[in-house]
Formats: sequence, C-alpha cells, structure tokens
Amino acid sequence: MVQLNFDSFPVLETERLLLRKITMEDAEDIFLLRTNEEAMKYIKKPKLRSVNDAIELIKVMNSPDRIQLGITLKNITRIIGIIGYHRIVNEHYRAEIGYMLNPQYWNTGLMSEAITKVIGFGFNEMKLHSIEAIIDPKNMASRKILEKFNFIKEAYFKENFFFEGEFFDSEVYSLVKK
Ligand SMILES: CC(C)(COP(=O)(O)OP(=O)(O)OC[C@H]1O[C@@H](n2cnc3c(N)ncnc32)[C@H](O)[C@@H]1OP(=O)(O)O)[C@@H](O)C(=O)NCCC(=O)NCCS
Repeated sequence: MVQLNFDSFPVLETERLLLRKITMEDAEDIFLLRTNEEAMKYIKKPKLRSVNDAIELIKVMNSPDRIQLGITLKNITRIIGIIGYHRIVNEHYRAEIGYMLNPQYWNTGLMSEAITKVIGFGFNEMKLHSIEAIIDPKNMASRKILEKFNFIKEAYFKENFFFEGEFFDSEVYSLVKK
C-alpha cells in the first residue's frame, strides 16, 4: 500500500531548496502565490479572495489523504512555491503530482530540483508505482518540465473540464517506476 503515515512530516532537501510542511504562518505567501495571475494562468482552481481563504486552503493541503510541500530557498523561510501529491489512489500505487512556483523564480532550474526530489520521494518513500500529471495543453512550461523528467503523454481529453462557464481540454502525462 502507498505509505502516507510518516513518523514526522517529511522535510526534503535539494542543493538550493527545502521542501517542508505548509503552516498557517505561510498564509500570506500562499495567498500571494494563488492570486498571482501569471502563475494561475493554466490552473483551473478558484482564485483566493483573502488570506482567510488561504488559511482554509492550507487546512485542505494538510489533509491526511495528500502531501503538499511548501518550496523555500534554504535559509529563507518564505514559501516561493508548492509541490506535492494529491488524488492518491492507494490501491493502484498512483498519485497526481502538482507544482507551482512564483514567476520571479521561473527558468532558474529550481522546479527541476524540487521535482527530482519529489519524484524520488514518491517512488521510494510513498511506494508509488506511477505518477500522473494533468495539464492544460496550452501550458508549455508544465509540459516541458514533464517531458524533461520522462513523463509520457497518455491521453488528450477534449473539453472534459468545466471551469467558470467554459469547457477546457486536458492532457494526461504519466511516469511509471522503472
Ligand atoms: C511549470 C513551472 C513550475 C515550471 O517551472 P520552471 O521555473 O520553468 O522550471 P525549470 O526552471 O526547472 O525549467 C524546466 C525546463 O522547462 C523549460 N521551460 C520552462 N518554461 C518554458 C516555456 N514557457 N517554454 C518552453 N520551455 C520552458 C526550461 O527551459 C527547462 O528546460 P531545461 O532544463 O532543459 O533548460 C512554472 O512555469 C510554473 O510555476 N507555472 C505556473 C504553475 C503551473 O502552471 N503549474 C503546473 C500546473 S499543471
């Protein structure tokens, strides 16, 4: 079975980053991130209206059925991104990965560092067998990073996602454990 009962919440370290639990003290940073127009362009989730909404979201992020990590630069506690697994299907050893970074840090290789670590964590610690990613076909940056990590496009769904009065296409990528 997929392992989500850790003795303590994991802190993952890369060369430049610490990936750690998101707490209520991060509400302001989560609010800034989730209201950033550029970062939210292809993420079809309702925009937060207040820091209170961010507090509610952090509660959801910390639900026992998922693992969401705040991305911080080493020695700076502020959150510059989020990465993690949601929609974990225990019986199939499969989970959906999600990630976003403050645009200020795009194209710096930071997300590649974070994803490398989180994929390793998913396969080795959580015992996943496959990782899924669902993207808006227009999200070139997200496709590029998935391809860089050898995710394979497995499906293209036409107008399967309804958001704010419109139907959107989606692409499903997956990475199977070697
Ligand atoms: C998707 C996202 C995390 C990628 O972050 P990033 O900062 O580009 O990541 P990296 O710097 O590690 O770059 C990864 C690779 O993608 C390439 N890339 C990034 N943006 C690109 C773009 N718009 N077009 C083409 N290639 C792009 C980079 O050149 C790099 O390739 P390389 O290592 O071979 O040079 C970032 O764009 C983001 O946060 N977007 C908003 C949130 C989002 O859409 N999340 C995904 C939801 S499915």
